[in-house]
Amino acid sequence: MSELPASDSSLSATSLPLQSLAQVAGTDVVAEHVANSLASAGWCVLEGLGFDPVHLTALQQEVVALHEAGALAPAAIGRGPDQKLAAEIRNDRTAWLDGQSAAQAALFKRFSEIQQFLNRSLYLGLTHFEAHFAAFEPGGFYRAHRDSFQGKASRLVSLVLYLNEHWQPEMGGELRIYDAEGAVAAEVMPVLGRTAVFLSEDVLHEVCPSRHLRYSIACWFRADVSDNLLLLR
Ligand code: OGA
Ligand code: MN
Repeated sequence: MSELPASDSSLSATSLPLQSLAQVAGTDVVAEHVANSLASAGWCVLEGLGFDPVHLTALQQEVVALHEAGALAPAAIGRGPDQKLAAEIRNDRTAWLDGQSAAQAALFKRFSEIQQFLNRSLYLGLTHFEAHFAAFEPGGFYRAHRDSFQGKASRLVSLVLYLNEHWQPEMGGELRIYDAEGAVAAEVMPVLGRTAVFLSEDVLHEVCPSRHLRYSIACWFRADVSDNLLLLR
């Protein structure tokens, strides 16, 4: 179901045009599609989260404003004491979402629904999510990587929501997803509302060099036992 051919032009034939179809007869079609795809292929691409387009436009305006105000900071790699800047690996600029604006609150509500659905259907035990805005300047990239170290369960599911209204193939900046054999499984153009979801520990992926300012939100659904224990102290 989520096996998309490598070329972006054929995405529309197989991905879900789901802006208005999110709730059909009480079924969360988007969440169901994500769960099924993660279980089979490990990834999927959606044409929307079943999420109000007005909020989508508002999120786009938020990231543009943050970028123009210089409020996005160079992103690092690694975690904790190992964290460092590595501009030869990634050179995007990011800022955490706090869920405060109406659009972010609506997005967080949608993320919570998806998290609950994934827990119910895949027993992932997700406890929370974190999300940041990202901007890649022209010349920006993020070399092939996975979002979580295997075996260290923290980030389990990654979701990237794109915020670029007028994207053209010659602008580059595709998300390239690899299959388990290392072959290219899909190249996803970062157009407004399009959303990629994949298993953080398993799926190798990269942001191809972008020739244009490229905006997105990246979200990670996490299962952090240690975080919960810390809260209990
Ligand atoms: C990331 C990432 C993909 C994208 O931030 O870890 O892989 O398409 N982003 O922006
Ligand atoms: Mn990534």
